[in-house]
Amino acid sequence: MDETKRNLPRVLISEAEVQRRIGELAKEIDRDYAGCERLICVGVLKGSVFFMVDLLKRVNVPVAVDFFQTSSYGAATSPGEVRIRKDIDLSIRGADVLLIEDIVDTGYTLRTILDLLRFRGAKSVRLCALLDKAAAREVEVPIDYCGFKIDNIFVVGYGLDFDERYRNLPYVGVYEGSGS
Ligand code: IMP
Ligand code: MG
Repeated sequence: MDETKRNLPRVLISEAEVQRRIGELAKEIDRDYAGCERLICVGVLKGSVFFMVDLLKRVNVPVAVDFFQTSSYGAATSPGEVRIRKDIDLSIRGADVLLIEDIVDTGYTLRTILDLLRFRGAKSVRLCALLDKAAAREVEVPIDYCGFKIDNIFVVGYGLDFDERYRNLPYVGVYEGSGS
């Protein structure tokens, strides 16, 4: 087998399963936001990008798109201290906001962003996350649209990285160490 294929992470959620579930989430979003004239979809860079693009291509309600970037996972910050590296550009006062994230782990990142969006006067704020690692949660974060619940394991692919690797895998895989 060629060298690039041999060490790929084991499949946890296949490309077909991911895409099927995204179709269902898009339908729910269309139903819940029917009549909404401008839904602001806010992604958290970089992990959510692959999911966000596939999801929003299947959503029919008109959307605006914006991004936050927060401090990287594993950065030498105190637990729960989330740094905003890039803020959104759009004003969200009075707007319906849908936050789109790859994974909710401890919950600190999303808690921080959700609080900030509410503080800035969004009319509504909901969260759509591809993966929910519920057993790792340290602060409560309600997920309005959840793709899949997973165990407390480290996953890569479909936007999720280990040290910036594996983001472009079309599936969600299990990271099993340096030989992965
Ligand atoms: P939280 O603040 O602990 O909920 O997690 C925030 C970020 O950690 C996520 O947006 C991911 O970028 C990263 N993260 C958490 N779990 C994983 C994982 O299993 N694989 C890759 N990145 C992860
Ligand atoms: Mg992320």
